Amino acid sequence: MATRAYVLMISMMMPIFLASFVSADPDLLQDVCVADLSSDIKLHGFPCKSNITADDFFFAGLAKAALTNNTFGATVTPAFVQQVPGLNTLGVAMARIDYAPGGLNPPHTHPRATEIVFVLTGELDVGFITTANKLFTKTIKMGGVFTFPRGLIHFQINNGKVPAAVIAGFNSQLPGTQRTADALFGSSPAVEDVVLTKAFQIGTKEVEKIKSRFAPMNKK
Ligand SMILES: *[C@@H]1O[C@H](CO)[C@@H](O)[C@H](O)[C@H]1NC(C)=O
Ligand SMILES: *[C@@H]1O[C@H](CO)[C@@H](O)[C@H](O)[C@H]1NC(C)=O
Repeated sequence: MATRAYVLMISMMMPIFLASFVSADPDLLQDVCVADLSSDIKLHGFPCKSNITADDFFFAGLAKAALTNNTFGATVTPAFVQQVPGLNTLGVAMARIDYAPGGLNPPHTHPRATEIVFVLTGELDVGFITTANKLFTKTIKMGGVFTFPRGLIHFQINNGKVPAAVIAGFNSQLPGTQRTADALFGSSPAVEDVVLTKAFQIGTKEVEKIKSRFAPMNKK
């Protein structure tokens, strides 16, 4: 009897478990809640603004290739809730990434989203690393898609001779991006050298050298 009650309880709670697994962002409580990005109110997401228009759901910023003449030869153009306030509470976002020949989108994670990329042009070598430190890597070409599971370290590099570009989709309005090297070597205040010398099994000089490349003021 107790077992049957237990099974019943588990099966009744199953949809709740499933709902919390399939959705990265919380579920909707209303049709729309266009982000009031200028509000000082702090809550989980952004407060809704009144007087909304179609333009709150529109963004033209992914139409053209971005300049890639930066340190890494790659540029991410987000279409997140900050660029498309209508995405607030909807649990999705996009981005465009452009890569010069040799360009790298350096190892990073999205703590709040799985990512799926569609290759617009060119080809890329991509990879992600699981928590068991297994690398899954593949060369993806125009028209191909590849998935980076939520929270796992991943990267893309253009080893081709022509520029490449992808459109990325995310299951969060604000996936968050944490670049691994910048986080450890470019944080403010800085992570103590001893943490990094021990973690990476290298000397203080090497740590200082890497830190100098990632000093917060040198970013971008
Ligand atoms: C609503 O927004 C439109 C366009 O931004 C503006 O012209 C109009 O005055 C606004 N109305 C109110 C009541 O704030
Ligand atoms: C990148 O190229 C553009 C256009 O050619 C130029 O205006 C800009 O200063 C360059 N940026 C860097 C960081 O070299």
